Amino acid sequence: MLALGLWGCGEAAPDSASDAAPDAAARDDASAPDAGDWREAARVDGRFSRNEWVAIGRLSPPPPRLASPTNRWADHPGAAAWGRALFDDTQLSGDGTVACAGCHAPTTAFIDGRGIAVAQRARVLGSRNTPSIVWSAQHRWQGWAGHADSIWAQSLAAIENPREHNLSPLALVHTVARAHRAAYEPVFGALPDLSDARRFPAEGGPGTPAWEAMSPADRDIVLRIESNVGKAIEAHLRTLTPRRLAPFDRFVAGEREAMSPEARDGLALFLRVGCIHCHNGPMLSDFDFHAIRMPDDPGVGPDRGRATALAELAANPFVGWGRYSDDPASARPAEPLSVSAEGQFVTPTLRGVAETAPYGHAGTLATLEAVIRHDAMGGLPPGDPGAVGRVNPNLLAPFHPTDAEVAALVAFLRALSSPE
Ligand code: HEC
Ligand code: HEC
Repeated sequence: MLALGLWGCGEAAPDSASDAAPDAAARDDASAPDAGDWREAARVDGRFSRNEWVAIGRLSPPPPRLASPTNRWADHPGAAAWGRALFDDTQLSGDGTVACAGCHAPTTAFIDGRGIAVAQRARVLGSRNTPSIVWSAQHRWQGWAGHADSIWAQSLAAIENPREHNLSPLALVHTVARAHRAAYEPVFGALPDLSDARRFPAEGGPGTPAWEAMSPADRDIVLRIESNVGKAIEAHLRTLTPRRLAPFDRFVAGEREAMSPEARDGLALFLRVGCIHCHNGPMLSDFDFHAIRMPDDPGVGPDRGRATALAELAANPFVGWGRYSDDPASARPAEPLSVSAEGQFVTPTLRGVAETAPYGHAGTLATLEAVIRHDAMGGLPPGDPGAVGRVNPNLLAPFHPTDAEVAALVAFLRALSSPE
C-alpha cells in the first residue's frame, strides 16, 4: 500500500504536524485547491478520504463523564466509597443472594457472559442481556431501551425489579438503617427514625397495601433515602471509566502502528457500509433509538424496546425531572418523547465491545462476526417473528461483505478496547 497521504510520504513519522490529529488535517485541507477532487495519493494512510478522516476524528478521544446535575453527590468521594460497598452487598436483595456485582462482575468487564441475565436463589430469568457499565457515566440513557435517564434511577430500578434484586423500598431503607448507617449519615445526614413499624412497615412499595396505608410524608421519607442509595451507587459507577486509551484512540492521535493494517481496513469499512450512521461521536453512539431487528430470545419473547420503555420512564418516581432530582430543570426533555418506538433500542457504545459477548438486547448473537453478518442482511427480514420493529434502510442497508471484510471489521471493533 502506497501511503502518500496527509500522513506525509510513505513511512513519515506519525507525529509530524499534519498527522497530529484529524482536525489539524482538516484545517490543512482548507488550503487544498479542490477539496472535492482528491486523488488516491491524497488519502490519509492510503485508505481514508479527507472527509472520512474528519469523520474519524469525531470518534476520538473518549469523552469525559457527562455532568450529572440531577445527583448532587455524583462526584462526592464519600458517596462513591459507600456506593462501592453497596455494589457488592447481597443484603440489598429480597432473598439475600443478589448483588449488582453478581451480574456486573468486575473481573469480566462488568458483565455476566450470559445471553439473558439470571438472578436469585430460584434462578429467575431476567428479560435482557447484562450490559457493561464501565462507560455508563458517558451515556445519555440507561438500559437497552433507555428506560432510565440516570445511573441512579437505573440502579434503583435494578434493586426493585422482581427479576433482579427484588427488594421493596421499605425493605431497602430498613436495610440501610440496620447495616449502612455509619456510611450513610456522614454523606446524607442523620437517618430519620424508622423504628415505628406502624408508620414504616418492614416491606412494601407503591401498589402494595402496606405502602398505600402510609402517610404521604412518610412515603416521601422512604423515597428520599432510597434516592440517596441510588445516588451513592452512581457516584461509584462514575469512577469506573477506563483510564487508558484504546489502540483506536492512539491511532487517531497519530500513532499509526497502534492499529493493525487489518483494523485500519475495518475502520474504512465501518464508515463505508454505514455503521457510522448510528455508531458516531466519541462513544461510537448517537444515543438515539433505532430498530435493527436483532433476534429476541425465544424464552423471553418479543421485546418492544423503546415502545415499553417510554411508559416506564414516565412512571419512574426517580426520573431526572421528578421530585427526588437535585436539578429537575436540567433533565426535562425539550420535546415530547417520541412514540414511534416499536422495537427500538438505543445505539450501544462500541467502546470495549470485544469484551462483552454475547451481543444485542437479548444476547442472541454470540460473536462480533455474528453481529456484522446480522447487520449485513439489514436485520432479520420483515415478517420474521424473531424481532420487532422496522429498519430504516437509509441508515442500515444490506451489504455483502467478504470473509476478509468481516474479519477486518472485527479487528477494528477489537481496537476499541482499552488495555487493562
Ligand atoms: C440479574 C442481573 C443484574 C443485576 C443483579 C443488576 N443488573 Fe444492572 N443490568 C442488568 C441488565 C439485564 C440490564 C439491562 C436492562 C434493560 O435494558 O432492561 C442492566 C442495566 C444496567 C445499567 C445500564 C447500563 C447501560 O449501558 O445501559 C446500569 C447502570 C446498571 N445495570 C447498574 C446496576 C446496578 C448499580 C445494580 C445493583 C443495584 C445492578 N445493575 C444489578 C442486569 C443486572
Ligand atoms: C441504524 C443504526 C445502526 C447501524 C447503521 C448500525 N448499528 Fe450497531 N447497533 C445499533 C443498535 C440500535 C444496536 C442494539 C440493537 C439491539 O440490541 O437490539 C446495535 C448493536 C451493535 C452491536 C452489539 C453491541 C452490544 O453491546 O451488544 C455491535 C457490535 C454493533 N452494533 C456494531 C455495528 C457495526 C459493525 C455496524 C456496521 C456494519 C453497525 N453496528 C451498524 C444501531 C446501529
